Amino acid sequence: MTLSVRQIGPCFVGEVSGVDLRKPLSRQEATEIEAAMDHYAVLVFHDQDITDEQQMAFALNFGERENPRGGNITKTEDFRLDSGLNDVSNLGKDGRPLARDSRAHLFNLGNCLWHSDSSFRAIPAKFSLLSARVVNPNGGNTEFADMRAAYDALDDETKTEIEDLICEHSLMYSRGSLGFLDYSEEEKQMFKPVRQRLVRTHPRHGRKSLFLSSHAGAIIGMSMPEARVLLRDLTEHATQPSFVHVHKWKLHDLVMWDNRQTMHRVRRYDQSQPRDMRRATVAGTEPTVTQQAAE
Ligand code: OGA
Ligand code: MN
Repeated sequence: MTLSVRQIGPCFVGEVSGVDLRKPLSRQEATEIEAAMDHYAVLVFHDQDITDEQQMAFALNFGERENPRGGNITKTEDFRLDSGLNDVSNLGKDGRPLARDSRAHLFNLGNCLWHSDSSFRAIPAKFSLLSARVVNPNGGNTEFADMRAAYDALDDETKTEIEDLICEHSLMYSRGSLGFLDYSEEEKQMFKPVRQRLVRTHPRHGRKSLFLSSHAGAIIGMSMPEARVLLRDLTEHATQPSFVHVHKWKLHDLVMWDNRQTMHRVRRYDQSQPRDMRRATVAGTEPTVTQQAAE
């Protein structure tokens, strides 16, 4: 089998064939996939009926696993998956769809907002690899936006205005914008805002991207309303159809994206039916900006 990548949709999505993700990758395959990630930013693999362990092993070709702590309100004893993958399903520990009014379900709805994974961490995620184990019958497409193209298309005045801006990101901002406002003291500590540059430069090819995410809720040195209006305007710009690709899931698709140069969101789906999606997350290697000294 020879690995090949074909462009689909807008120029930032590639479809990969000729690779079996159940088996360890050769060095050559891993290098080719990472180069394709740099070029495209989103890669789609079809017909990959993999286990959690195989998915994690595939992810580890591209860096270390991100520690999932601090990214959710679900208590460790309530985890459905013990493999270390992020559970992005709508299922509880009993394997059934979560109750519509459960806190976990309401919190998970934040994935319907445009975001970049773990932008609420001081070191945000590098790659995410999402595997479809059960596809929902109605809705649940995942959409991706190319943040390099969005940056390039800004006018020069805006580029200058935002070049050095630093945002604050927190899960409490994204969930708060949906009206999810009640957190325990422990959660408030866990979800304390972190700082991220608004314009970031890709470490391998050097292109600039808009580093937006629904987790961004403030800009240093700017009033909150002014900051939010700017962030909304930029997000509206960056998610115009010409920068967006819609992925319609088929069973055993695996989609891999670079959080440093894309945003994504899931569309609403039938919550009475299962949707089992599992994510391996490759940790980033450095912060986008020095964090404030701890208070
Ligand atoms: C994620 C995510 C969207 C989806 O896995 O990070 O946002 O389609 N998932 O479930
Ligand atoms: Mn996500």
